[in-house]
Amino acid sequence: MKKLDMVYEGKAKKVFRTDDKDKFVVQYKDDATAGNGAKKGTIEDKGIVNNKMSAMLFEILEKEGVPNHFEELLSDREQLVKAVKIIPLEVIVRNVSAGSFSKRYGVEEGILFDNPVVEFSYKVDELGDPLINDSHILALKLATEEEIEHIKGMALRVNEVLSELFLKKNLKLIDFKLEFGKYHGETILADEISPDTCRLWDTETNEKLDKDRFRRDLGNIKEAYQEVMKRLEQ
Ligand code: TMP
Repeated sequence: MKKLDMVYEGKAKKVFRTDDKDKFVVQYKDDATAGNGAKKGTIEDKGIVNNKMSAMLFEILEKEGVPNHFEELLSDREQLVKAVKIIPLEVIVRNVSAGSFSKRYGVEEGILFDNPVVEFSYKVDELGDPLINDSHILALKLATEEEIEHIKGMALRVNEVLSELFLKKNLKLIDFKLEFGKYHGETILADEISPDTCRLWDTETNEKLDKDRFRRDLGNIKEAYQEVMKRLEQ
């Protein structure tokens, strides 16, 4: 496999074509942004942690019945993935109130929901990734009704698998964001799963071990990412 030109550069990753048209190389960066790019910085070795953690979680999810784009780890910062066409939706699952949910609905953080909340955002930076519902998705022809149901089912399965896994590591999975893509007609999980895209709180202390440390200037950001990876590897 030969790495070719870059096809896409996002806020936290670069994507390269390869000599196999069905495969991309994803390179994880240390760059961090928050508030749709309003706050910028770097988190040392974040790319290494997020590459390794995503690979590990994608492998587990594949075995647990959630098809995804991960193929193999190539290096500290690179992984080979299936060349999906990303559906421009951020699929967010919430178990506990936090972040934009708390802000939007005026509730404190930390309220455990009876059932997980699934919500979608329309992934368009210029629009600020607005919240979008099923009928908006159909109107904009972003996905069919069947695809929406399939995506929700996969997102909830990811929630079950990861909530249980993290709990064993004394971490509460508060919420997370997923992205899906089309690959040879199939809709599969793509993008990444890391402390950039999940909220993780220590079960004993409720200490935040995720990107909220960067968003809210809480300090020990690098250490939080390393701590999550250390616990997953134990
Ligand atoms: P929110 O509370 O800001 O809507 O975030 C919910 C979850 O989704 C949280 O775990 C962070 C993650 N997320 C992303 O990964 N990327 C994004 O652009 C946004 C808005 C949230």
